[in-house]
Amino acid sequence: MPKAFSLFACQNCGAQSPKWIGRCPECSQWNTYIEEAAAKEVKPTRTKISSATDNSPKSLPEISSDASDHVPVGIAELDRVLGGGLVPGSVTLIGGDPGIGKSTIVLQALGSFANAPTNERTNALYISGEESASQIKMRADRLKVNHEKIYILTENCLEILLEEIKKLKPSVVIVDSIQTVYSNNITSAPGTVSQVRESAGQLLYLSKATGFSTILVGHVTKDGSIAGPKVLEHMVDTVLYFEGERGHPFRLLRAVKNRFGSTNEIGVFEMTGKGLKEVPNPSSLFLAERPEGTAGSVVVASLEGSRPVLVEIQALVSSSGLAMPRRTAIGIDQGRVALLIAVLEKVVGMSLSNQDIFLNVAGGLKVNEPAVDLGIISAITSSFKNKPVDPHTLLLGEVGLTGEVRAVSGMEIRLAEASKMGFKHAIIPRTNTKTKVPKGMEVIGISTVSGCLDLL
Ligand code: TYD
Ligand code: MG
Repeated sequence: MPKAFSLFACQNCGAQSPKWIGRCPECSQWNTYIEEAAAKEVKPTRTKISSATDNSPKSLPEISSDASDHVPVGIAELDRVLGGGLVPGSVTLIGGDPGIGKSTIVLQALGSFANAPTNERTNALYISGEESASQIKMRADRLKVNHEKIYILTENCLEILLEEIKKLKPSVVIVDSIQTVYSNNITSAPGTVSQVRESAGQLLYLSKATGFSTILVGHVTKDGSIAGPKVLEHMVDTVLYFEGERGHPFRLLRAVKNRFGSTNEIGVFEMTGKGLKEVPNPSSLFLAERPEGTAGSVVVASLEGSRPVLVEIQALVSSSGLAMPRRTAIGIDQGRVALLIAVLEKVVGMSLSNQDIFLNVAGGLKVNEPAVDLGIISAITSSFKNKPVDPHTLLLGEVGLTGEVRAVSGMEIRLAEASKMGFKHAIIPRTNTKTKVPKGMEVIGISTVSGCLDLL
């Protein structure tokens, strides 16, 4: 009889080793190795990824591309991120912190999908390994999702749920969450690399073979990546992250990988008592509580994918009693802020070394774009000098190390969004002034930080 042997696998990156090691040589994480049964030798068999009986190589023009037709879910913000809707036979992974609303959004998506007139005769299956059927029913009642074509299955065993999928023949399957599914063929615990890989792989094959769309819900680890290995992200067609700040009702859905569309789109939702509500106009939401005419508040237009969003940047500069003054930035990259403070000190000659500086993007949004540099600089200056910036002025521009202001992309749509929200003036890089300016808006071009601060 051959000796049974096992392998140790890193739960972070999926690397394997014949013996236990404390520190993973691949990803340098400590204590991530867990014993897993080694996979049996398998004969090469054709995968079921193509349903065609003849699976020999084909020339490109022979292959029809009808498989990538998007079927809209009916929630515009979700469809936008998906690139138009769910693609039959595709697998989508939604990751996010606990309690962010993953189960809520997938249930609402099912409800909307089942209610679409074109999907009248199709079944949808919601498989939950975390909640009981009555818990899901309670949530469904709250979300007003009620349709005889939506089936709920509470099951963790991969083999059983594959059987049920084959029996029901649904057009959409949701697995909430992939970390709770386990296969009987593998001895390691649910949520381990090999279990997650096996479960996702089997679901993927069945999904491609029979043409239903799958949405997998995934947990995220402390550092924000989807729990289980990166291999999960490589396997699926689309990876979405659901994010939001605790204590803020806003939720952003972001695509980080999409085989059927752009990864630049975001969907904006608001968590209410009746579930997630779409926010078609995020700018008005983020500017709703802006204190107009106070020092330290500046509005910038950040481009989220192809979508301009107006956000307020707030700065508070106050004299510090500390030897090392505090520099805190929420929603903006700390390194970027340090750089801009240095520019203000060196180029403009502002003395900030004895000042605490706090920066915040109102509404819990994260802006990671150099186009907001000029806004950050102006907010800090405004708070330091205690002089408010005109509330109807928009500021845009990337700031270089010598204090020069550089052009930003997508100026036209940013200005159009600002004009829609009632902004009358915009201070933008001089090289950008040739763009089309919306009616009723005045644009001032500047080329240096000092030039901008003189204007304000
Ligand atoms: P849930 O979808 O269970 O989160 P996840 O599956 O990502 O862990 O959402 C849970 C949170 O959402 C919970 O804190 C309550 C809140 N919520 C509402 O505010 N309104 C609602 O209608 C629902 C269903 C949930
Ligand atoms: Mg959940």
